[in-house]
Amino acid sequence: MTVQDTGSVEDLAARLRPGFVLGVASAAFQIEGSLTADGRGPSGWDAFSEKPGVIVDGGSPAVACDHYNRADEDIALMQELGIDSYRFSLSWPRIQPGGTGAVNQRGLDFYDRLIDKLLAAGISPMATLFHWDLPLELEQTGGWMNRQTAERFAVYCEAAAERYGDRVDRWVTLNEPVSVTLQGYALGVHAPGRELLFDSLPAAHHQLLGHGLAVQALRGVGVKGLIGISNMHSPVRAATNKLSDRLMAQALDHILNRIYADAVLLGQYPKPPLPMKPWFRSLSTVEDGDMDTIHQPLDFYGLNYYYPLKVASGPGPAEIPTGSSPEMAKIPFHLATYSEYETTGFGWPVAPEHLSILLQEMRERYGDALPPVYITEGGASFPEPAHVEGPIQDTNRISYLAEHLGHALTATGPGGVAEGLDLRGYYVWTLTDNFEWAAGYSQRFGLVHVDFDTQARTPKDSFYWFRSLAKARNHQSSLFR
Ligand code: BGC
Repeated sequence: MTVQDTGSVEDLAARLRPGFVLGVASAAFQIEGSLTADGRGPSGWDAFSEKPGVIVDGGSPAVACDHYNRADEDIALMQELGIDSYRFSLSWPRIQPGGTGAVNQRGLDFYDRLIDKLLAAGISPMATLFHWDLPLELEQTGGWMNRQTAERFAVYCEAAAERYGDRVDRWVTLNEPVSVTLQGYALGVHAPGRELLFDSLPAAHHQLLGHGLAVQALRGVGVKGLIGISNMHSPVRAATNKLSDRLMAQALDHILNRIYADAVLLGQYPKPPLPMKPWFRSLSTVEDGDMDTIHQPLDFYGLNYYYPLKVASGPGPAEIPTGSSPEMAKIPFHLATYSEYETTGFGWPVAPEHLSILLQEMRERYGDALPPVYITEGGASFPEPAHVEGPIQDTNRISYLAEHLGHALTATGPGGVAEGLDLRGYYVWTLTDNFEWAAGYSQRFGLVHVDFDTQARTPKDSFYWFRSLAKARNHQSSLFR
């Protein structure tokens, strides 16, 4: 796929509706480093990443992009990029080190300065309250398997809302609860490394409950910003037309997509296919009132889209999108490959058509229950060198972004398959190459290359492409004013 295939940047810019938000997204644990600075407490991820063999090449998050000390430089890059909004996450263990009790003023101050600097740079802050770094003390008492974590989360959210509620424009309660449930509690490839398979579903319910309580807490404080959640979605297809494959596809769609979206948008869990009912039993025993708490009115819905999945019945290869887990051998389905697509560095199919399918599914499934949508993450890693002299020519990333944005605009535009879905923006994952969880530093997703030996930042060609998109759009919208 060449950049030419995707049309000119001016054409794409001309298709962005006025007010469409262009942004970049990041997460505290993946960029900040300074894990013991300013009174921050450890998180479950601090402990997990110290275990031998769990992070590719033994990569340590201790420094990451040193963003804690280089926030000014990173904001200057964002300003140069010309984005409207920056999605970042607040680190719970930096703000409330033990996950309960006293807040840490120095931690709160860090984000206070960050928000003020963003606003001074003309960049609208979108703050995610939980992007996977759970305070270790809470992880040690069961983490999200413990219902109390949901209540504690709301207390921390209230403290953040009190401090930043006058300046944050958009709040995201949770980032991808599905990834935490599956990778962290079901398959053991992310913190806390538990291998509970279907018995991990209480972690889903408690995160969703935490989401609902957090929305109530933010509204209780009267934050001025809009409130939503970021869910990862992968359209699921059966590998063949066999009934067994189709049933597994339906079940996986529930596991990945519908449990989270149905709960938040419809206030109920989906009914699983009958043969798989026992897998979902822990979701049928929720406490009275929980679904109402989870089903809070939202101002927006965040969609993270990276890849579609294809599934076949029967145990098979242990591969999952972010690596492999021996636990996969214990379940009666496996992921099949989408051999028709090119792949990213992670091996993910580059399938922008499936973003259209996803948007169509969201529109059809949720109709008017779906609030305005932001694509709160999308992007790709490609093999790139550790050291560079000058911009990398990452035409693959430019194509990826242009194609995905193009498909999203077509799908939601007049006559599109998802017409009526109110798409408000797209956030690229991510600004700088960073600590890619269990993949360590082996997967580079940034618009900006980071040399992890020197911390030198070098914008890639995709940075300049995205900048030209933002510029062309601003130019055109000013013509219409
Ligand atoms: C997560 C990010 C991650 C990205 C790429 C998303 O699922 O929210 O933290 O870096 O995927 O793997």
